[in-house]
Amino acid sequence: MAGMLDGKSALITGGGGGIGRATALAFAREGARVAVADIVEEAARETVALVNAAGGQAISLSGDVSRDADVRVMIEAVVGSYGRLDCAFNNAGIAGWQVDAVGKKTAEWSEEAFDRMIAVNLKGVWLCMRYELPQMQAQGGGAIVNTASIAGLAGLPTSSAYVAAKHGVIGLTKTAAIEYAEASIRVNAVCPGYIRTPMTEPGMRLRGEAILAQTPFKRLGNPEEIAEMVLWLCSERASYVSGAAYNVDGGYMAA
Ligand SMILES: NC(=O)c1ccc[n+]([C@@H]2O[C@H](COP(=O)([O-])OP(=O)(O)OC[C@H]3O[C@@H](n4cnc5c(N)ncnc54)[C@H](O)[C@@H]3O)[C@@H](O)[C@H]2O)c1
Repeated sequence: MAGMLDGKSALITGGGGGIGRATALAFAREGARVAVADIVEEAARETVALVNAAGGQAISLSGDVSRDADVRVMIEAVVGSYGRLDCAFNNAGIAGWQVDAVGKKTAEWSEEAFDRMIAVNLKGVWLCMRYELPQMQAQGGGAIVNTASIAGLAGLPTSSAYVAAKHGVIGLTKTAAIEYAEASIRVNAVCPGYIRTPMTEPGMRLRGEAILAQTPFKRLGNPEEIAEMVLWLCSERASYVSGAAYNVDGGYMAA
């Protein structure tokens, strides 16, 4: 049976972690040649080893998505290795605990924490698209998926800058989708609910019961369940889908 991404080349940022790693494996399973990028080089290499062990093709890249030069080099490296860039999953991101903002209300965030959150979770997505879009335009099309969140759709107490960044990601997604439709580039977002990854471990320890009580499915999602949506959005099966933000959240946003 043909794979959903046969012959495609794909970049995944944050590919050393939970959702990115599961997506790298799903993309490779469906025939894509994958570039796994992460700020933690070793984590990207581990994902590549898993892809190779499963019979797929992958390369690892390292860099910080908040740095223009790093992102430019990342995209040049994918195109250098695979000749083109058909699919891009702009997924690298950080949570409040990674900038020392746990439990902090809007007025309590430090400027440093706010700036870093916006730099990685919002500017990072823009920087990726800044280099992906011209490449895709030059080659005649492509598909981009940006990782937003349920925090891109609603407020979340003590997550001020995270929520602002994720709302911003949806805005960037919609705007690029309109601007590049004529170039045959589809741009969409995925909005995960609470997913079992290293990112959610501290939050689950602190208030896991409350989170599950708020989630109609009464369980966390698995990274593979996000990967399936990203895979579909990047594939030709989603050929008329652009500018959309899809929830994969166990019913969280419906409650
Ligand atoms: N886990 C959830 O419940 C959840 C829910 C909604 C949205 N998200 C979003 O999903 C994405 C992936 O999160 P995850 O849960 O897999 O987390 P994770 O921490 O398991 O993976 C994130 C990966 O991104 C990398 N990364 C962090 N900063 C980076 C940078 N500046 N440049 C390049 N790489 C960087 C990390 O090293 C890590 O490997 C994030 O954008 C996150 O905001 C996660």
